[in-house]
Amino acid sequence: MAEDYLNEHSMHTHTCGQLRKSDVGVEVTLDGWVWHNRDHGGLVFVDLRDRAGYTQVVFDPDCVSSEEFEEASHLGREYCIQIEGKVRSRSDDTINPEMATGEIEVLASSLQVLNKSVTPPFVIEDGIDTDEKLRMKYRYLDLRRPEMYKTLLLRHQFIHAVRVAMDKRGFLDIETPILANSTPEGARDYIVPSRVNPGRFYALPQSPQQFKQMLMVAGVERYYQIARCFRDEDLRADRQPEFTQIDVEMSFVTQHDIMSMTEDFMHDALAAVGVDMPTPLPRMKWQDAMDNYGCDKPDIRFGMKLHDITDIVKGSNFKVFADVANNGGVVRAINAKGAGDWSRGEIEKLARIAKNNGAKGMAWIAFSTDGKVKSPIVKYFTDEEFDAIKKELEVEPGDLLLFAADDFLTVSAVLSALRLHMADALNIKREGHAFLWIVDFPMFDYDPETGIYTAEHHPFTMIPEEDWDKIETDPLKCKSYSYDFVMDGFEAGGGSIRIHNPELQRRVFKRLGLTDEQIDKRFGHMIEALSLGCPPEGGIALGVDRIVMLLAGRDSIRDCIAFPKTARGVDLMTGAPSEVTAQQLKEANIRLA
Ligand code: AMO
Ligand code: AMP
Repeated sequence: MAEDYLNEHSMHTHTCGQLRKSDVGVEVTLDGWVWHNRDHGGLVFVDLRDRAGYTQVVFDPDCVSSEEFEEASHLGREYCIQIEGKVRSRSDDTINPEMATGEIEVLASSLQVLNKSVTPPFVIEDGIDTDEKLRMKYRYLDLRRPEMYKTLLLRHQFIHAVRVAMDKRGFLDIETPILANSTPEGARDYIVPSRVNPGRFYALPQSPQQFKQMLMVAGVERYYQIARCFRDEDLRADRQPEFTQIDVEMSFVTQHDIMSMTEDFMHDALAAVGVDMPTPLPRMKWQDAMDNYGCDKPDIRFGMKLHDITDIVKGSNFKVFADVANNGGVVRAINAKGAGDWSRGEIEKLARIAKNNGAKGMAWIAFSTDGKVKSPIVKYFTDEEFDAIKKELEVEPGDLLLFAADDFLTVSAVLSALRLHMADALNIKREGHAFLWIVDFPMFDYDPETGIYTAEHHPFTMIPEEDWDKIETDPLKCKSYSYDFVMDGFEAGGGSIRIHNPELQRRVFKRLGLTDEQIDKRFGHMIEALSLGCPPEGGIALGVDRIVMLLAGRDSIRDCIAFPKTARGVDLMTGAPSEVTAQQLKEANIRLA
């Protein structure tokens, strides 16, 4: 165990998490931080903590010098100390079964204060309710808390296991540049001025995408990297401006090879941290995910699926539904079982969630457990329509139906958000982990406001040959060879087969609105490489931060990154981003507006 190795080449003989009943009588030296310090009937008890755990140390005035005893009784929180002493059993009534070392204590024979501490800004222990900003400012203290250390350890163990698994399968770990050119992954670039090339800028990579494709052209065949990526985008609990991917690329493969390889190495890496991922993973078509769950990263650990009632309400007197249904939109609903007795006020509050996700309104029907029906809309339906709705949604007393009527994507976003909200509100159990693939993504997205097409994954993604002629004529019907790895309702990874045909790559860039000149300037090197014997190839990138967050059962990836940034992209510990001197700006040829 790596933890035992901590005692080699060290000032201490044991860690604070190590001593057991079998060590009674052993003379030890321990280093650590003072967690608690209590005075009990002439004895001083100190709970000493290091990364491995806690040990109770007892100072008896008969066993240490009077100066040491005096010092021991005044040890403050987080003093860094070293003690020598002898391990002894605790009396039966003082055994602490909660502590791994709870059967023993160390009777100190010496005390050395290695460093004092001023009163820390928060208590260093698990489960504290401290403002996250304060924790981030004193990140080194926050990381001293056992639960934070455990997350760092888990991340280390997972990444280590990934490296072992990749090595075993012939993948080469190759570093790619951080000072790079723009890589289109849908976010803004962080740019870095080049002093020696005035007016020119590097872009920090949004991913190593272009480089890993070049490595395939180079014949490396199997590449991986635990890669840092940089994306200037709106931050959320599962997004940081810099984050880490397990970045993978393979040559001479189909989409299925990459997916089954990913299942293989992830199975090994997860097993190393105690998680069994049964393979092969389920595969769900993008369209089915959207139809059933309203999103492309469904949490399949519970049901509450979406139901379509467009046809049922086409001829109804409820104008809102009928209009949408007759004008190309959809009317859909979820059944939140167990919410049928909610008050009108409680239900109407849900409309805010619907509206925040783009809904124009949120109709509902509540079926109370005593058989009553409450709703602002049932009055519009005929008995046949109402019966058909009840049948479609398998209604029982105690159910609450929530409806959305709009275009397909809006309805999906609204009901997906309501579904997740209701699962939380109704305390629906979501235990264990659920992994699956989403496949058959569309190649392009379209923004009707700007008239611009974007790549749903990225522009290097291969389109099935039968859809090539739709790139110009019917782009939204183009499918792509891309796939997402979904874990517990999060997009934990995504990848694709790449275009290895230079003409096709140019057509896709053109569809995305680039001129030939722009294509040559930004991606000329890629197109050229494709014409120099690029093998068929593809890959995937898995989000380490998100996976560790889910493995650790945390709500934010900030808890799984040693030094994260706030939602405004600030590192509160170092103060980055910060101002630079006039001289630095001059050297970089930059004048501030
Ligand atoms: P993609 O953009 O889907 O694909 O990213 C892959 C995975 O990276 C994670 N991720 C993030 N994690 C934290 N903070 C962020 N801001 C963030 N953005 C993305 C997600 C996501 O699934 N080059 C392609 C991969 C490929 O085609 O091989 C890529 O980067 O878990
Ligand atoms: P109204 O009769 O106009 O007050 O609407 C009745 C119910 O329909 C209200 O609960 C509205 O929130 C709801 N509603 C309005 N527009 C939509 C929509 N596009 N989708 C779902 N429900 C809607």
